Amino acid sequence: MALLSAVRAFLVLGSFVAATTDLGQRTPKDPCAAIAGQKWVAPKDVRACFTSVKVDPVIKDNIIQVINKTLAFHTSVNYEFKAPEPFTADVHEDLLGDLARIQRQSYPSDYDLHIDFSRTLKRLNDALFTNFLPIPLALITEASGAQNVHIAPEAFQVASAEFPDQIDVWQNALPGPLKGKLASLSGARVLLINGQDPFVAVNVNALITGSFQALGTRQNSFFSSYQRSTSGWNYIMGNFAQQSLPLSDSVTITIVRTGQILPETITLPYRSRIGTATVPFTDTASWRANNCVAVPGTNGVDLNAPSTADTVHSPLMKFQQQPPVLPQVARKQPLDVILDTSPQSDVVLPPTLVPSLPAINGSRSVSQFYMLKDGKTGVMALGSFSDSDFNTFLLGMLNGLLSLKSLGATQLIVDVSNNGGGFICAAHWLHRIIVGPKSTTVPKSGLDTKARDGPLAQLIVDQIVNNNADPQGQLLYNPINWANASDVFFAPGTNWLQPPVKTVINGRQDAFSQRLGEECAESGFPAPPPAQALFDGKKVAIVSNGRCASSCSLFSVTMNKEEGAKMVVIGGKKDVQQQYCGTVGGQSTDYSTIDTEIKTTKLKNNSLAPPDLMVNGVQGITWRLGFGVNDPTQPEEWQSRPADLNLPITSDIVNNPVAIWEIVAKKLLSQT
Ligand SMILES: *[C@@H]1O[C@H](CO)[C@@H](O)[C@H](O)[C@H]1NC(C)=O
Ligand SMILES: *[C@@H]1O[C@H](CO)[C@@H](O)[C@H](O)[C@H]1NC(C)=O
Ligand SMILES: *[C@@H]1O[C@H](CO)[C@@H](O)[C@H](O)[C@H]1NC(C)=O
Ligand SMILES: *[C@@H]1O[C@H](CO)[C@@H](O)[C@H](O)[C@H]1NC(C)=O
Repeated sequence: MALLSAVRAFLVLGSFVAATTDLGQRTPKDPCAAIAGQKWVAPKDVRACFTSVKVDPVIKDNIIQVINKTLAFHTSVNYEFKAPEPFTADVHEDLLGDLARIQRQSYPSDYDLHIDFSRTLKRLNDALFTNFLPIPLALITEASGAQNVHIAPEAFQVASAEFPDQIDVWQNALPGPLKGKLASLSGARVLLINGQDPFVAVNVNALITGSFQALGTRQNSFFSSYQRSTSGWNYIMGNFAQQSLPLSDSVTITIVRTGQILPETITLPYRSRIGTATVPFTDTASWRANNCVAVPGTNGVDLNAPSTADTVHSPLMKFQQQPPVLPQVARKQPLDVILDTSPQSDVVLPPTLVPSLPAINGSRSVSQFYMLKDGKTGVMALGSFSDSDFNTFLLGMLNGLLSLKSLGATQLIVDVSNNGGGFICAAHWLHRIIVGPKSTTVPKSGLDTKARDGPLAQLIVDQIVNNNADPQGQLLYNPINWANASDVFFAPGTNWLQPPVKTVINGRQDAFSQRLGEECAESGFPAPPPAQALFDGKKVAIVSNGRCASSCSLFSVTMNKEEGAKMVVIGGKKDVQQQYCGTVGGQSTDYSTIDTEIKTTKLKNNSLAPPDLMVNGVQGITWRLGFGVNDPTQPEEWQSRPADLNLPITSDIVNNPVAIWEIVAKKLLSQT
């Protein structure tokens, strides 16, 4: 079994990895036909379909080759082998060794291979069917300070709204006098999960979820949380109540319901709901054909070919925790985004928990502005750093913060719960407009970075600078898109990967580019940033459940370590150090984009180039790695980011954004 740990490389498969070689031969009883056309099924029936497919060795090898050769562009392969403290226990994955192991190992079915890829690479969002329970959990701190796992107080509200067509199945599954009384479970204290302390289940899940992040963050993903989305407030069920694979058939929990004294033990079935992105199928053959083979966008394109229609939505988008960004925009605005095991949630936060404060001018999409009743605390809720329109997004941020100021705000809370990143320059802009022009924001508010400097990357740059392979300046590897460590853009024709900076990491020889500086020029912003600070950095609190990554980390890390912003992690086990954000990266990209670089520079025939991927999958990588603030010689990724306040979640504030902000304003901001 692979050691399950934190990495930033992942393969996400739209559906399963390898097709059978004998798809044509339909067996009399096709287990996939049994679930076809149904909305809700039992997880074991989904597994029966998935496990009926054998591994095709050609496709298995294709996937391994694509991953292995794409990893040469991932900055962190050798760092992830064994991360420095405090992340050593969390991050130690021998990616290349594991791929070799997977290559040697045989698997009873395609599903077993899929799970091994998923857990080794730590990222998988299959979601052909998603497994649900109607009882999301919360970690509640009691008045005594003791922490207990509870069924979230809003559990029934959420489940009855989201699953109106399935709730009766759960109502009827409850034993004896509890039958039909699912609502009475809300708020119950959970003593045991499957006969063991709940934290046994929390920690088992932490081994296979959320990857590359600190233990506290991975524990937190077991529990429910909230996120601001493009159109409203979403409820994140957490990994207990929502599984992206049909892993569990049921759960047995021992609970004490609110107002009761005696424990009760109940068993509830997981139910699998068909994913919204699943293309309809009728049997194994059509499941594979419609959902598993490569689609437009799976592989890259030659941008110089006359007919390249660059309007295809990358399949990546459905796995990124961000609103869709068109490829043309993504090419102009570098992104730093995580892929997650869960698709963007469409479960809604119950109306009683949605902020009822009026949204202030400047609010749009994932960013919303509110003024708290104390008359001095402005709130910016920011669920993502992505938007369909970069300029409008940035102008909205400025408008919102100026509106808060005009209403008298002297302190600011930025709630980035479940913010998986997005535009890098949007993170820099937000930092710059909050704290004004100073040495930490002009000319740059971002981190210096480095790219991996492998042999194929060097050939790509050669083709660009010596053979004019990218006349329109569209490629990642084109020097004109980047600045050197003095923040001066490279002149066209600069071979910026020469000479490689040789670096020994964990005893392994590696090579990186020279240090890169800031490419988010003030001239690239949609408006001149204000000449004065809008808020004192020390009067800013950044709040999340720790699930803030990529561009969200770039923003949080620089605001905390350079400006003294206060960092709050909502919830979390009190004896586990909470890190206020996860994967930092520097800039993320994926296999398909790298393949476009290779095809456009006519290097697809090179033996180092990955073959075209035959299945519907994506592989995300960190393309540039940011250097740290406190130790600028080492990546920020593995430097500690402890929260200033680990806010205990009590039953009256759980998943209630406004109640949480009010406490943060009182506890953290007003006393300084
Ligand atoms: C992965 O690539 C490396 C070269 O970078 C090679 O040595 C190794 O054998 C490859 N692994 C597999 C499983 O193909
Ligand atoms: C919000 O916009 C409206 C209309 O433009 C304006 O009348 C109002 O003063 C603005 N409020 C704030 C707080 O900026
Ligand atoms: C960056 O480029 C400028 C202009 O060529 C040069 O003067 C400067 O020394 C370079 N900085 C570094 C760190 O290479
Ligand atoms: C790759 O090689 C094949 C055969 O060797 C050749 O037909 C093809 O044109 C080459 N493609 C590129 C992009 O160089």
